[in-house]
Amino acid sequence: MTNIPRFTRAIVRTPSQSMVDGLTSAALGKPDYENALKQHAEYIKALKTCALEVTVLPADELYPDSTFVEDVALLTPHCAIITNPGAPSRNGETDNIIPIVREFYEMVECIQSPGTVEAGDIMMVGSHYYIGLSERTNQNGADQMISILEKYGMSASIIHLSEVLHLKTGLSYLENNYLLACGEFLHKPEFHQYQILEVDNDEAYAANSIWINDTVLIPAGFPETRNLIKATGCEICEVDVSEFQKLDGGLSCLSLRF
Ligand code: GLY
Repeated sequence: MTNIPRFTRAIVRTPSQSMVDGLTSAALGKPDYENALKQHAEYIKALKTCALEVTVLPADELYPDSTFVEDVALLTPHCAIITNPGAPSRNGETDNIIPIVREFYEMVECIQSPGTVEAGDIMMVGSHYYIGLSERTNQNGADQMISILEKYGMSASIIHLSEVLHLKTGLSYLENNYLLACGEFLHKPEFHQYQILEVDNDEAYAANSIWINDTVLIPAGFPETRNLIKATGCEICEVDVSEFQKLDGGLSCLSLRF
């Protein structure tokens, strides 16, 4: 069992109008921008109810996917690591996050090309980090990430994934040894030590939920997963992020929590 983290801050980025042209594999239609703004505001409220102080960054029209701010940095208790997104249309998003992260961190490291990493591929369990090798995160990027984490006394290991966008698309650590998992992650030997909370394929989107200070934020509209998590004794906070689902974005993608 690992020490339970406490988070005090979050960083989010306001969706840009260009989000309607964001990357997606979902066949759910284009997002409605006005509704996305409303949902984003509710998401910020939910973070605040979990006792987080939230820094809200302005929309960045150059980057349609920039509201998915989680992907551009890994914020650990010991250092910040700026990633190097593997999606070409997202690759410059990191420029605008570096000065913000420097406000909070003395130690700031960067993943360098040809390494690519998107932090949606990284799941924290105590001081260990699971790094998914995906279409966005390559071996070189993962190796750099592991070296940096080890330099600061943390550890990491690699998970191969093939079915979903990011590692945390199908996997969320909910503390107290509970691992919410779906699809290809249900039977991986790397996770046998955890108590798996199995998300039905019909509710796969809810496998991306987030534990924050004893509350689990889950996407609205997934009753079976809600009951599964509720049975662990956690507080539940449902947030409607359907406009972001249209861009393959989940709850975790919308913030950096540290
Ligand atoms: N639309 C989120 C992503 O593909 O990165």
